[in-house]
Amino acid sequence: MKALVCEDFGPVDNLVYREFPDPVPAEGEVLVDVDAIGVNFPDGLLVEGKYQLRPQCPFVPGSEFAGRVAALGAGTSGFAVGDRVFGWHMGGGAYAERVVALTSEIHPLPASLSVEQGAALLCATGTAHHALRQRGRLQPGETLVVLGAAGGTGIGAVQIGKAIGAHVIAVCSSDEKIEFARSRGADEGINYSREDLNQAIKARTGGRGADVVYDAVGGDAFDACSRAMAWDGRLLVVGFASGRIPKLPANLTLVKGYSVVGVFWGEFTRREPQVHAANMRELLAWVEAGKVVPVIDREFRLADGIQAIQYVTGRNVRGKVVVKP
Ligand SMILES: NC(=O)c1ccc[n+]([C@@H]2O[C@H](COP(=O)([O-])OP(=O)(O)OC[C@H]3O[C@@H](n4cnc5c(N)ncnc54)[C@H](OP(=O)(O)O)[C@@H]3O)[C@@H](O)[C@H]2O)c1
Repeated sequence: MKALVCEDFGPVDNLVYREFPDPVPAEGEVLVDVDAIGVNFPDGLLVEGKYQLRPQCPFVPGSEFAGRVAALGAGTSGFAVGDRVFGWHMGGGAYAERVVALTSEIHPLPASLSVEQGAALLCATGTAHHALRQRGRLQPGETLVVLGAAGGTGIGAVQIGKAIGAHVIAVCSSDEKIEFARSRGADEGINYSREDLNQAIKARTGGRGADVVYDAVGGDAFDACSRAMAWDGRLLVVGFASGRIPKLPANLTLVKGYSVVGVFWGEFTRREPQVHAANMRELLAWVEAGKVVPVIDREFRLADGIQAIQYVTGRNVRGKVVVKP
C-alpha cells in the first residue's frame, strides 16, 4: 500500500510518500480501507519527535480515519467486512491506504456524515466534549471562553459549549477567524492580537471572569486567562499550540478559588471506556441533531500529506483538514 512514512524524527518536510507493508489485523482488530484521514496538530509534533509518544522508525503517523472494514482479525467480532466506520487508533498508521484498529477504537459511521466529516470528528470534537463534560463540568448559563476557537478542537468546543447551553466567547487572532467561530454558534469574540485578553474577558463578563476556559493554545494566552477566572472557575489545560508550556503562580488559584484541570482525551478513552462510550452516544446525538457539525476547511491528497500537516501547524486552519488516499 501507499503511505506517508516517517523514516527518522525530524521536520515534517522529511516525510516520504512510498510503498509500505500492509498492516495485518490481530485478534480484536479490524483492517480498514481508508477513505479519509483527519489531520491533527500532534501529527506534526509526533514526526518531529516532540510528542509524548516516540514510535520506532520507520513508522506511519496519523491516528484518525474513516473508511470501510476490509478484514477482521482472528476471533474479532462486532463488525463485518464492508461496514462504514470512523475511528482513532492510538498506535498510529492512518496516513496510509490501510490501517488496523481495535474494535473499541472504531464506530459505525452515521449515514448523515460523509467520510470526510467522519475522519474529522473524533479527536478534536471528542476532546472538547470530554474536556467540557467531565473535566470542566460546564453548566447551562455559564460563560465559556474558548482559545484557538477557529481551530479543530476549538470549533468543537464552541459548538459543544452551545449544545450544553453556555454563553460562548471565542478567542482568535483575527476578525475573520472570529467570524468563522460566530458562524458556528459563538456568542461573541475577542481578537487577542488586538485586545488585552485578561481585560477583555473581564469586560465581557461584567468583571466576574470566565467560569470555564478551554485552552488549547497555552503560552501568553494561558497567563492572561489565569488572571481572568471567576470564583469556582475551571481552567482546562488542553494543549500548547503557541509552542510555550506556561507556568502558573499557584497563589492565583487560591485568591480566585478556581481549579486548573488537565485534559488528555486519548488516555481517557483507554482508562474510562464506558464513560467514553456514553460520551460518543451524546456526541453522535448532537451530530444527528445538527448541533455539532465537523467543519472541513480543506482536503489534500495523501501524496500531499506534508502540505496538509504544515497547513494545520502553520496556524491557517478553520475547522479541520482531511487527507484522502
Ligand atoms: N489534550 C488533548 O487530549 C488534546 C487533544 C487534541 C488536541 N490537543 C492539542 O490542542 C492543541 C490544538 O489542537 P487543534 O487540533 O485544535 O489545532 P489547530 O486546529 O491547529 O488550532 C490551534 C489554534 O491555536 C492557535 N495558535 C496560537 N498560536 C499558535 C501557533 N504559534 N501555531 C499554531 N496555532 C496557534 C490558533 O488560533 P489563533 O490563530 O486564533 O490564535 C489555532 O487555530 C494542540 O496543541 C494539540 O496538541 C490536545
